[in-house]
Amino acid sequence: MKDAGIQFDQWTERRDLSQDELITICKDYDALISVGQDHIDKKFLNACKHLKTIAQMAVGYDNIDIAEATKLKIPIGNTPGVLSSATADTAFLLMLAVSRKAFYLHKKIIKGEWGFYEPTGNLGIELHGKTLGIYGLGKIGFELAARCRNAFNMDIIYCNRHSNPLAEAELEATKVSFEELLAQTDVLSVHTALTAETKGKFNIHAFSKMKKTSIFINTARGAIHNETDLIKVLNEGLIWGAGLDVTNPEPMLADNPLLNMPNVAVLPHIGSATEETRSAMARLAAENIVAASKGERLPHLVNPEAYS
Ligand code: DGY
Repeated sequence: MKDAGIQFDQWTERRDLSQDELITICKDYDALISVGQDHIDKKFLNACKHLKTIAQMAVGYDNIDIAEATKLKIPIGNTPGVLSSATADTAFLLMLAVSRKAFYLHKKIIKGEWGFYEPTGNLGIELHGKTLGIYGLGKIGFELAARCRNAFNMDIIYCNRHSNPLAEAELEATKVSFEELLAQTDVLSVHTALTAETKGKFNIHAFSKMKKTSIFINTARGAIHNETDLIKVLNEGLIWGAGLDVTNPEPMLADNPLLNMPNVAVLPHIGSATEETRSAMARLAAENIVAASKGERLPHLVNPEAYS
């Protein structure tokens, strides 16, 4: 942005700006780089309709009212593609951590509770040859499926509106119904956007149809699973474990029961948080800002209708 002659300010001291404060600040600017925690709703957009673009530094944009932005002709950008590997790595990390109770056992050592070596103590479950079920097989899901296939020779099934021919050809993935996904999966990983259709999709009814030995992983958005229901099914042993990089709400409170369950691993929404990936995301967001400053179409555009 500097090379393109764009002046910019960065808020590093305060991360808790209210929406009203953000609106007041944006009055003096032509564009905003936002993140998923910013509420870019009808109120914000109508108060800031002068913005030439909002460049979201994330692939997901469920925090933005896209229909309203489009109506107001504000092009919205995002950062697709570049974070697929890092996010898939995070899902893979959670899957392994849950299967071997790694986070819980680490906490026990810190508390001085290493205990004794017991032949039947601290037992996890193995992943080799198990079935990975992906809910929403796009780029991130594909990367996770490839890792699971290569590392553990896992079978891949997926539930999507459309088929994924690449995953079927390269990973022998099979498209199944939602019911089949729940019933057949050993590790179920969520990689879909948060929409009206996916909100609360993983609730007591869905979890109850999963295998008692299964692991639920969510690195997409916390609101796709119902946390109360998840706690209940874990407590009742209706599924085996869960790995979450996203929670509802975020941040998760320190007294959340999930944090003390042996078969649960929780991370603070770090899916794309690597030096390499965040740099790549920043570059895409900057490319969007630069294009908007020149009156050009955003190269990484969410709402093409904003130009019509
Ligand atoms: C995304 O890109 O949507 C992530 O959740 C934020 O890093």
